[in-house]
Amino acid sequence: MQTIVEVNDIEKSYGPAQVINHCSLKIYEGEIYGLLGINGAGKTTLMKMILGLQRMDRGSIYVLGKEVSSGPEYLANVGSVIENPTFYEHLSANELLSMHLCYMQKKADIEAILHLVGLENVKQKPISKYSLGMKQRLGLARAIVHHPKLLILDEPLNGLDPIAIAEIRGLMRTLANEGISILLSSHMIGEVRHTADRIGILSEGYIKQEFTVKEKVSECGEQFEGYVVGLMRREGI
Ligand SMILES: Nc1ncnc2c1ncn2[C@@H]1O[C@H](COP(=O)(O)OP(=O)(O)O)[C@@H](O)[C@H]1O
Ligand SMILES: [Mg+2]
Repeated sequence: MQTIVEVNDIEKSYGPAQVINHCSLKIYEGEIYGLLGINGAGKTTLMKMILGLQRMDRGSIYVLGKEVSSGPEYLANVGSVIENPTFYEHLSANELLSMHLCYMQKKADIEAILHLVGLENVKQKPISKYSLGMKQRLGLARAIVHHPKLLILDEPLNGLDPIAIAEIRGLMRTLANEGISILLSSHMIGEVRHTADRIGILSEGYIKQEFTVKEKVSECGEQFEGYVVGLMRREGI
């Protein structure tokens, strides 16, 4: 199986606070990898380093075979939604995605993408009038409209109602089945358990444990959640 993301022993500090420490992980083609950790564990920081938005102090990251520090060309094949996406709010969804495709120098069927994320009925409504859930969907549409091979989604199910969660989860599975690899983060065990193929627990700056959801659920049964909470805790908490 092809390795899409390879994080090798990276470190990152903000001033004196070391947030990422001896962190390594691999993401393979077509899998949904769930990065699970408490608030402040470093999930967003790690994703930003994979996207070249944040510098690392030590170690290396490869995305689609290219070293991140070698330049931004690899980003043409990556889509992402980091924290709360921002938009030109006076635009409609259609206008926003047209503009995005223009600067990505790609072509796509915008109507089909809006339909895929459940925004087919918004017509000319300005983004400023959207609910949080609609903005999450639009962020996802912008992240996939250029047909990326890797999708990085930071807490993608935050602010969504249960129906939207089920729909977006279904959409992620459809994309993964088409061969897109997905890295998603969450602090909610249930969310990741029902969305990801494999989970990495980010705690104390590194991937403390990695497992496939199927195997761990069959091993732990009812104790799954308690086991994972134990791994997510920092020493001394
Ligand atoms: N730009 C920054 N400057 C200083 N500290 C930061 C910065 N970004 C994040 N942090 C700190 O790094 C830690 C990890 O943050 P973050 O990566 O946002 O974690 P998560 O996404 O898991 O909640 C937190 O303690 C946070 O306060
Ligand atoms: Mg975060």
